[in-house]
Amino acid sequence: MYKQLNKNSFYYGFPVVLMTTRNKDTGSDDLTPISSTWTLDRSVVLGLGLDNQGFHNLKVGSDLTLNIADQSIWEQIEKIDKKTGNPTVPEYKKQLGYDYCENKFRLAKFSKLAGISVSTARIAECLIQIEACVTDIMVRKNYAIIETTVQAIHVSEEILADETHIDVEKWHPLIYKFREYATTDKHLGKNFRFQEFLK
Ligand SMILES: Cc1cc2nc3c(=O)[nH]c(=O)nc-3n(C[C@H](O)[C@H](O)[C@H](O)COP(=O)(O)O)c2cc1C
Repeated sequence: MYKQLNKNSFYYGFPVVLMTTRNKDTGSDDLTPISSTWTLDRSVVLGLGLDNQGFHNLKVGSDLTLNIADQSIWEQIEKIDKKTGNPTVPEYKKQLGYDYCENKFRLAKFSKLAGISVSTARIAECLIQIEACVTDIMVRKNYAIIETTVQAIHVSEEILADETHIDVEKWHPLIYKFREYATTDKHLGKNFRFQEFLK
């Protein structure tokens, strides 16, 4: 038997990504935690709330870096979970307890690394960093769908088996599962197109 559930949002398990963008007016870097992303070939598609500073920055031409979180940094992310880089905090966010934060990097103790293919900051604590630029923005009622094209992928040697292959046993992505932080630890088997390294 199944029950039909009526929910506004349904996060059945998505990787947590720390998106960095550049604020054109102030020149500062912004950091937006997101979980609504998917990838296909060289595209990464994002879902972003229209009030987010990260969205404003992309709309006016910022590139972006998708810093992929692993299990070790979930508590740092929680330090900025109710913060926005948008000085005009919308009323519905105030009701949820959000307030403005000028520097989320400092608050969460994340270290910035300079961008390589784009100018937005990489986060040293994230072992996978994807640099991208915006290809298309589709605005819906309360959110936007952003299509981006990957410019470069940077992977820490900590999780590499050799020059080009990721040791998948060393990578423990942070997963946002029904708003709980979780990770993946159990190996079940490989697809015929597996291209990384597994002992
Ligand atoms: C784990 C996690 C996942 C989130 N996923 C998204 C998301 O996919 N899209 C989105 O717009 N906001 C998401 N949020 C909420 C934003 O991070 C939040 O609205 C934040 O204030 C935006 O920051 P900004 O205004 O500085 O860009 C998420 C928050 C957390 C903690």
